[in-house]
Amino acid sequence: MEYIFSLEFIYLIASVTYILGLKMLGHPETARRGNLIAAFGMTLAIIGTIFLYQGEVPDLIYYLIGTAILIGTVIGWGIAKKVGMTKMPELVSLFNGMGGASAAIIGLIEFEHYVGDQLSVLTIIAGLIIGSISFSGSMIAWAKLNGTLNKPLRLPAYNITNNIILLAILAFGAYMVTTGNDSQLYIYLLFFAALTYGVLFVMPIGGADMPVVISLLNSFTGLAAAFGGFLYGNMVMLTGGILVGSAGTILTFAMCNAMNRPLSAVIFGAFGEGSVAADPSKKAAQGNIKKTTPSDAAILLNYASKVIIVPGYGLAVAQAQHVIHELELILEKKGVEVKYAIHPVAGRMPGHMNVLLAETNVDYDKLVEMEDINSDFQNTDAVLVVGANDVVNPAAHNDPSSPIYGMPILEVENAKSIIINKRSMNPGYAGIENELFFNQKTSMLFGDAKDVLTKLVQELKNM
Ligand code: TAP
Repeated sequence: MEYIFSLEFIYLIASVTYILGLKMLGHPETARRGNLIAAFGMTLAIIGTIFLYQGEVPDLIYYLIGTAILIGTVIGWGIAKKVGMTKMPELVSLFNGMGGASAAIIGLIEFEHYVGDQLSVLTIIAGLIIGSISFSGSMIAWAKLNGTLNKPLRLPAYNITNNIILLAILAFGAYMVTTGNDSQLYIYLLFFAALTYGVLFVMPIGGADMPVVISLLNSFTGLAAAFGGFLYGNMVMLTGGILVGSAGTILTFAMCNAMNRPLSAVIFGAFGEGSVAADPSKKAAQGNIKKTTPSDAAILLNYASKVIIVPGYGLAVAQAQHVIHELELILEKKGVEVKYAIHPVAGRMPGHMNVLLAETNVDYDKLVEMEDINSDFQNTDAVLVVGANDVVNPAAHNDPSSPIYGMPILEVENAKSIIINKRSMNPGYAGIENELFFNQKTSMLFGDAKDVLTKLVQELKNM
C-alpha cells in the first residue's frame, strides 16, 4: 500500500501513460484520447513531485511553484484554445522553446551544486548547451513562421562560421568538464554562446523548411530534458525526455524521406525560397491551360463512378475542410465512390491533412495513404485536387533537374480526368511550375477553395 503512494510508483504510471499516449497519437481515431492520457500522466507526475517529495522544501517554493503553474496553465490554455490549424507549427515551436529554456535553466542553477562531480557536470553542460540551442533556435523558427523574420539571413560562409562556433562551444564545454572549473562567469558565457549558435543555426534556413527544423529542435529539447532526468535520477523526466527525443528524431527523418531530401539539404540548402516568377532561369512548363467552371466540374463529378480527392495546403488555408466533406457526402449519396488521397507531407506539418479532415468527422477509412492509393488512380474517373501542388507534380518523376526530383508523389496524372482547384498559376512551396496544369486531361478550377467548393456543392445539389 505504501508503494502505491510512493513517487516511484507515480512516476511508473506516468511513464506508462506517455508510452501509451504516444502510441495512440499514431491514429486519428485514438489521438485525442492519447493526448489526454499522456497529459493526465504529466499532471500526476507534477502533483506527485510536489506533494510526495521527501526533502526539505521551504514554503515559499510551494507558493512559487503554484503561481508558475497557474500562470503557465492560463497562458497555455488560452493560446492553445485560440490557435488556428495552420498556425500549429508556430505554437509547437513556441512551446518547444520553453522546454529548451527550462532544461537550460536547470543547468545554470545546478552547476554550482555539482562542481567536482565530473559525470554530473557533463550532464549539466550537455543539457545546458542543447537546451539553449533549442530555445533560441525555436524562437527564430517561431518568428520565421509568423512572418516577423521573413528573409533567411546568411552570414558570409555561414556554414563554416556556424561549424566553427559549434566546435568552440563543444571544446569549451569539454574544458569545463575536464578541469572542474567552477566559474559562474564561464557557465553563463557557455549559455550565451549556445544561445547565439541556436540563432545562427536556424537563421539561414528557409521559412518553409521550419516544420522539419522544429521537429529537429523538438528532439533536442527531449534530449536536454533527459539529461535533466539523469542528473536528478528522476525516472519520469528521463523517460519523457527520451520519448520526445526519439519521436522528434524519427519524425524529422520521416519528413525528410517523404520530401526525398537529406537532412543536410534542409539545414544547409535554400529550398522553397525563390519562386518561378522571381527566378526566370527556372524552367517554366509550356502549353495552354484549360479552365473550367463549378457547373462543368459538378457535371463531371456527378457522372463519375469513382472520384479521388487530393487535399493540400490550400485546403487548410481556405478552411474548406467542412465543405469538402459535404461534397464527399453528396457524391456518395449519388452513388459515387469517394476517397481521399493523403500525401505524407501535404500541407505544412506532419499529418496536417489527417488532422484537418478528422475535424469534420470524415470517415478514417476513406483517408488512403499514398502508397496504397497510387495504383488506384488509373481506374479513377475524376480526381479533384484542392490546394495541392508539389505533392502531385509529375516533375518529381520526369525531370531530373527539378528540385523535387525523386520525391514520392500522388500519381494523379494516371486518372481519366483531373480537376485542379487553386487561386492562380502561382507555384507552391517548392517554387516550381507544375506540368500537370498543362496536361490535356486537366481542367483548372480557379478560386478560393471554400468559395469554389461551396459553389460546386450547390451545383451538385441542383442536379
Ligand atoms: P503546396 O505545394 O504548397 O501548394 C499549395 C497550393 O495551394 C498553392 O499552389 C496555392 O496556389 C494553393 N492555395 C493556397 N491558398 C489557397 C486557397 N485559399 N484556395 C485554393 N488554393 C489555395 O502544397 P502541397 O501540395 O500540400 O505540398 C506541401 C509542400 O510543403 C511540399 O512541397 C512539402 O514538401 C512541403 N512541406 C511539408 C511539410 C509537412 S510535414 N507537411 C513540412 C515541410 C515542407 P495559389 O496560390 O495559386 O492558390
